[in-house]
Amino acid sequence: MISFDEIVSRNTPEDIKYGKIEGIDDLIPMWVADMDFKSPKEVIDSLVSVANNGVFGYSEADSSYDKAVTDWFMKRYGWNVDPDTILKLPGVVLGVSLAIRALTEVNDSILIFEPLYGPIGRSVRGNGRNLVISDLVRNGSRYEIDFDDMERKIIENNVKMFVLCNPHNPVGRVWTREELLKIGDICLKNNVLIVSDEIHADFIYSGKKHIPIASLSDELNKITVTCTSATKTFNIAGIQASNVVISDAGMRRAVDKCSVVTGAYGLNIMGIAATRAAYNYGEEWLDELNKYIESNYELVKSRLAGTKLKVTDEEGTYLIWIDASEVECEDPAKFFLDKAHIRFSEGVFFSKKAKGFIRMNIACPRSVVNEALDRMLKLPEIR
Ligand SMILES: Cc1ncc(COP(=O)(O)O)c(C=O)c1O
Repeated sequence: MISFDEIVSRNTPEDIKYGKIEGIDDLIPMWVADMDFKSPKEVIDSLVSVANNGVFGYSEADSSYDKAVTDWFMKRYGWNVDPDTILKLPGVVLGVSLAIRALTEVNDSILIFEPLYGPIGRSVRGNGRNLVISDLVRNGSRYEIDFDDMERKIIENNVKMFVLCNPHNPVGRVWTREELLKIGDICLKNNVLIVSDEIHADFIYSGKKHIPIASLSDELNKITVTCTSATKTFNIAGIQASNVVISDAGMRRAVDKCSVVTGAYGLNIMGIAATRAAYNYGEEWLDELNKYIESNYELVKSRLAGTKLKVTDEEGTYLIWIDASEVECEDPAKFFLDKAHIRFSEGVFFSKKAKGFIRMNIACPRSVVNEALDRMLKLPEIR
């Protein structure tokens, strides 16, 4: 029996999410994007088995690993991937950064949609590229793409690469086939390469479907670098492993060379074991998890209805983007930390323009979500 209601202790000094804050001993951490659930039993068993063997040498994924990964892509997204086109790397942000370094030049322009998970824009800027932002448009409580703005900015700035996030962290959109095709057309027409960060691909609410943009056509497959990972899905982010699909051989060689030159390549022994076990045995667990997360989302939405906290309409991920700009305070994340001892991610991590927003991580037992909501609803400022 899978029980996501179980409270699992994360009380280790190394734990980032549960890091102590002085003066607060009843903190509810709802910020960093990992979950408070135990990984599937088969994943834990695979790691125990490696540990019990007692040797932790350099390791390389074999064909059983490749099969587990490509079977997952086929089962979950109907995406047929040749195992030879997958680069294994220690992280998704690393994959994005290496693609930027290998496939563009210093001072080239790279476009992103904001608000967006902060390290992506930082990677663009930190690699000496020019960051071009097309803001997603909040339409009621749902976010949409301004395609005219996207294309205009691509042309005006001679953009060479677009970094897509699908599903999108933090606004929870699972981009539709039509939206992805429009993005693809704009990129193909303007010779823009696509890097698609699909780390949240497995967190999809009922009735929605994740579509890898590279799966839509041969032309899109050729210009796309798809960064995937089992780490978010199965709560194994600490083992740092990713699978980056690059079908174009020249692009793949360039990214591979860049990874070797930087010394950041390959997977570790734990990453191989855990990813393979997760993809081979984790499907049922994941389906249950998605139902649980979606119910947490519905709970937050219904309990916060009618307050000054405007919950975004989401279709996936376990991260809720909340407009708190009507709450009278300087900084909503600090406000909730001080007044309710809840730690949210600050809006400005995702966009300079998102000062009034917070991001809430709901991948935790329902009792914890309810406790956080109780504390929030007690505050007169949100009424
Ligand atoms: C969109 C997105 N990409 C990448 C990452 C981090 O991936 P990794 O730890 O593999 O670099 C996160 C983590 O929150 C994320 O939300």
